[in-house]
Amino acid sequence: MTGNRSIHNLALIGFMGTGKSCVGRLAAELMHFTFLDTDHVIEARTGKRITEIFAQEGEPAFRHLERRLVEELTRRHRTVIATGGGLPADEANMASLKTHALVVCLWASPEAILERVRGHEHRPLLNEPDPLAKIRALLAAREPCYRQADVLVNTEMRSLREVAQHVVHQFHMAQSERQ
Ligand code: S3P
Repeated sequence: MTGNRSIHNLALIGFMGTGKSCVGRLAAELMHFTFLDTDHVIEARTGKRITEIFAQEGEPAFRHLERRLVEELTRRHRTVIATGGGLPADEANMASLKTHALVVCLWASPEAILERVRGHEHRPLLNEPDPLAKIRALLAAREPCYRQADVLVNTEMRSLREVAQHVVHQFHMAQSERQ
């Protein structure tokens, strides 16, 4: 599955609200890895919230910052990376992540996602009159990208800790396959 790749990081991809940041933090703790959240790095570097970047500079500017960060990630070791939900929709980003990380996609239904993101205003793409329709449309458009992940994990019916433990197990299996 993971062939000749050099897997020393773990990348969590998936739609908004699937738990990438919480699961990533827990997984990093369990593995004694560093945790990095691409949205947080971008916010720290620009001194702006994601919503401000979208509102003031537009989505393409944000995607440019994501691509630049993805290039830098190739130099990381022993890091759990939680990515922004749209980051793997760029093929080059996904290909780059796969050169150094096991890519795990966290999955949830549109209804479960809506439940989890309800009331969060920091997600500019979901500030819409009909967020469920937007989630369905975006998820359908992105599903082929998310399916490129090495492992797909359904996050419904499992606690965040269970998801994190499962993800860590998958990482160790991928590493032992290569020895
Ligand atoms: C986005 C997801 C967000 C953030 C930005 C765009 C997307 O990250 O990067 O609002 O395109 O799905 P989370 O998935 O961490 O919410």
